[in-house]
Amino acid sequence: MVGSTGISKIKTAIFISGNGSNMKNLIKFSKLKTSPIYVDLVLSSNKKANGIRYLKKTKIVSKIFNFKKKNNHEEKILKILKKRKINLICLAGFMKILSKDFIKKFNGRILNIHPSLLPKYKGLNTHERAILNNEKFSGCSVHFVNSKLDSGKIILQKKVRINKNDNPKTLSKKILKQEHKLYPKALKKLLTRN
Ligand code: GAR
Repeated sequence: MVGSTGISKIKTAIFISGNGSNMKNLIKFSKLKTSPIYVDLVLSSNKKANGIRYLKKTKIVSKIFNFKKKNNHEEKILKILKKRKINLICLAGFMKILSKDFIKKFNGRILNIHPSLLPKYKGLNTHERAILNNEKFSGCSVHFVNSKLDSGKIILQKKVRINKNDNPKTLSKKILKQEHKLYPKALKKLLTRN
């Protein structure tokens, strides 16, 4: 798709599992003249995801896949991505693990946002663990996805202070706010020249 700046935008799919606030934020960002991405497709691993409800108000195509069933869902997803000529995948609160084969096929073109200062606190319950460990800071990271969980090359990070009275909920809220700034910034860093 050619954006209003005359520069062609990268056809992007966003993968979600839940609330979808990062997804909504990326969609909003994609509409800016200066955004390097165009959101063509959203894929959800959860049919009840809030993000899916939001998409009904837009023209963006959404697809739901049940990752629990041991079926050939990844093959089907790859077919859709190929058919729609998707060039970039942004994981945004996507809580499923993609297979090594899938990642290989999209090598270097899958990004993720994670709510910690990687390499610290990979995986789940990041905020609980950071608070329990008396960390003074946590934050968020945008990184490339490789075959090891939350271990790909980091593109950008943002530090967030943990206050004495923070609990996982307040910390998650503070970090999410920063995630919404960081993901677009990382995409610009990676995909635009200036
Ligand atoms: C975000 O905090 C994101 O970083 C995290 O889930 C939340 C999703 O929020 N992702 C992970 O933990 C991935 N391992 P959202 O659905 O409102 O964007």
